[in-house]
Amino acid sequence: MKNIDWKNLGFDYVKTNVNARAYHKDGAWSELEYTADEYIKMHMSTTCLHYGIECFEGLKAFRGADGKVRIFRMDENAKRMQASARKLCLPEPSIEMFTKACYEVVKQNIDFVPPYGYGASLYLRPVLIGSKVGLGVKASKEAMFIVFCSPVGAYFKEGMKPIKVVIDRMQDRAAPRGTGDIKAGGNYASSILSGEKAHTLGYSNVMYLDAAEHKYIEECGAANFFGHKQGKYITPQSPSILPSITNMSLRTLAEDMGLQVEQRPVPVDELASFDEAGACGTAAVISPIEMVYDLDTGERVDYGSEVGKVSLELYNRLQDIQYGRAEDKFGWTVVVEE
Ligand SMILES: Cc1ncc(COP(=O)(O)O)c(C=O)c1O
Repeated sequence: MKNIDWKNLGFDYVKTNVNARAYHKDGAWSELEYTADEYIKMHMSTTCLHYGIECFEGLKAFRGADGKVRIFRMDENAKRMQASARKLCLPEPSIEMFTKACYEVVKQNIDFVPPYGYGASLYLRPVLIGSKVGLGVKASKEAMFIVFCSPVGAYFKEGMKPIKVVIDRMQDRAAPRGTGDIKAGGNYASSILSGEKAHTLGYSNVMYLDAAEHKYIEECGAANFFGHKQGKYITPQSPSILPSITNMSLRTLAEDMGLQVEQRPVPVDELASFDEAGACGTAAVISPIEMVYDLDTGERVDYGSEVGKVSLELYNRLQDIQYGRAEDKFGWTVVVEE
């Protein structure tokens, strides 16, 4: 086991043993290769650098209570990267190549998977980069696929802590027929300014509304939104929301708990009617929302500083599967052979 201060790990890059790479050229992908090199050499006129023809993924591997290392739903991340590649006209990595690269990167960096008990994990970052050199705005037929990893700390060091979020219409994250439904780097570039403003004002996240009407809830920072009321798990549906794999898993767990699941447009006016609300994603699983403040209208909705019962149960059920404390009855994890 590496000599790392697991307890105080944050969400930062830590150098590990190897990363995986494959190259697409002349219509075919190369074999995966593994290297300790952290750098890529790139021509200054490479498409991704100028036109943002690039996408990525984020997923985690966990060391469980039984000592086994499990990767969570990597096949779903593979499918989502394929969808991103299609929309950006990039060569698609096969599901097999994607999952093999993730598996091998965990296996060959097994010493960097945090021990059980710290709430920490090994974060995997697959990236697909348009690597064609040129000046014109056109599809990149050449691409580089990389999977690297980094140990990351518990999102909540001292138990779940509800967050404050702000509605700010100064910047939309994604257009209705844009790239909001895929994991393109440009979506994050276009939410930096509002994110920074929110932090300056003392909020954890921006709640983005639909760009066309500013009437419906889209996302909560780099996470999906859900609300709970009257036995219903309600989450927004829109063509510009990234389909979160955590949200997909929570919907299954919610149904399993006997809740009714609704995925539909959620008007911002509905916020006040929820008993509980949260942001969900790989980073935190669930960040319960304490309060939402609308910068434009001055309206404020409070859910309280205690974690809601339903949010807590969903969180525990998902983490129990990830950390091997409960049976993986949906077949969501792959155990890495050591
Ligand atoms: C914009 C956005 N929405 C939602 C999510 C949550 O997706 P997932 O649960 O697959 O991590 C992410 C990534 O974590 C994201 O970047």
